[in-house]
Amino acid sequence: MDFYIKSGSPEKQRTACVVVPIFSGKKLSRPAARLDEASDGGIRKFLKRGDIRGDKGELAWIYGLENSYAERVLLVGCGAERDVNPAVFRELCETVAKALDNSGATEAFSYLTAVDSRHIDPMQMVRDTVVHFEMALYRFDDYKTDVKTSSRPLKRLAIGVQRRRDLAVAEASMREGKGMALGMIVARDLGNQPPNVCHPSYLASQAELLRKTYPSLELEILDEEDMTELGMGAFMAVSRGSDQPGKLICIKHLNAPDPHEKPVVLVGKGITFDTGGISIKPSAAMDEMKYDMGGAASVFGVITACAELQLPVNVIGVVAAAENMPSGGASRPGDIVKTLSGQTVEILNTDAEGRLVLCDALTWVDRFNPAAVIDIATLTGACIIALGHHVSGMVTNSPSLGRELFHAGQATYDRVWELPLYEEYTDQLKSNFADMANIGGRPAGTITAGAFLSKFTSDYRWAHIDIAGTAWKSGEAKGATGRPVPLLLEFIFKRLRSAE
Ligand code: BES
Ligand code: MN
Ligand code: ZN
Repeated sequence: MDFYIKSGSPEKQRTACVVVPIFSGKKLSRPAARLDEASDGGIRKFLKRGDIRGDKGELAWIYGLENSYAERVLLVGCGAERDVNPAVFRELCETVAKALDNSGATEAFSYLTAVDSRHIDPMQMVRDTVVHFEMALYRFDDYKTDVKTSSRPLKRLAIGVQRRRDLAVAEASMREGKGMALGMIVARDLGNQPPNVCHPSYLASQAELLRKTYPSLELEILDEEDMTELGMGAFMAVSRGSDQPGKLICIKHLNAPDPHEKPVVLVGKGITFDTGGISIKPSAAMDEMKYDMGGAASVFGVITACAELQLPVNVIGVVAAAENMPSGGASRPGDIVKTLSGQTVEILNTDAEGRLVLCDALTWVDRFNPAAVIDIATLTGACIIALGHHVSGMVTNSPSLGRELFHAGQATYDRVWELPLYEEYTDQLKSNFADMANIGGRPAGTITAGAFLSKFTSDYRWAHIDIAGTAWKSGEAKGATGRPVPLLLEFIFKRLRSAE
């Protein structure tokens, strides 16, 4: 979809549809009031008929409003104006996007940002309009042979800003929104691919494609031979069980004005299918373990957005891609392996494979002298028990990095919540035979997984984000969500803003 920013009065817009908010108790927004004045009370007259009261999510179409150039007006009930928060705004955008897509209008002019709320500011609404419209109209139908599409799909949206002097900031917000939406679409497409297509070599070929699209990116791919030679015994312990060769994929977006600026490094768990290995999983809903590369998908999404927006930052994306399968070559419970760091690990459960591929990748990235390392992983079912599907879990060794990520989460509603990394949790990882075990028992499974990773990240500022509950939706609308791309991009945008 195309988005652009425009100022000006609603009655003067030559458009197929002008979209204006109204609030509880038939209260008019400013653009709704303008249309009302221009049409000699046409809006209020319409409201008297009782089609719409202004409650959240209500819609009403008005055709042929007097003295307006728009073919139609879409009134959008937003509930109580002061209470519109980012989640409500998302619902409204999604409802409107679908309604427009199913209407005869292929383009529209939206005044949805004309909401005076305590919880969300106009520029955030500009950014979110782009994100939510794109997400509402997203489809993954690569494998459907008979696709039903809207006969007159929505193609263009103007986003109205109230004041001329806001045009420049609104443009910037729209650009951020476009980057977020692009990154989310990349992440969703990868996450939705079936596991017989999306294996580690597929991810490597996607990285090569990305480099072709954006020649400024640098690419380095380690194969199993390279990793064995380096001494990545933990990564290889997982990858060995599969006929699909594992890959360590490193994509560099180095575009900071100062080329020596330390990079932000993102490390994504890229298990393209997690059967559990010899500690095999129960079969119910096992298909969903194709999204065990959701962390990797978000890394692809963020790097794509950085390249597309040509952000003046240094960001390095690393993807630890392997498939966790049971086979004659697979690891057994009881195996002891040596990690790239030199520490040994007793594998007590082959289903705790994410931390095994990540620990070697986390040791490897120390070579980049990172400003911060953030790993993103669908790491534990325990995280879904702790936080559900609304919030990602976070464990960090840096309170300041934790704060930055927390605030980036608040600003995008792609939220994270920190869990404590106290040393008692590390004690749960004790092994009788090696330096540590790869599991810490049932209690606090998300934290002990983080505690395991922390043994490989003591040389830099690090945060771990567990997206097991947030990267995927089960049920009827099953599929990848694109999270936590907005969180990570906002984290990068915030650093850029504070550097200005
Ligand atoms: N990929 C899973 C975690 C997961 C579970 C993500 C459900 C999304 C939904 C991970 O590899 C795993 O199997 N973790 C185990 C760890 C346990 C063996 C310590 C788990 O959560 O059960
Ligand atoms: Mn597993
Ligand atoms: Zn897994």
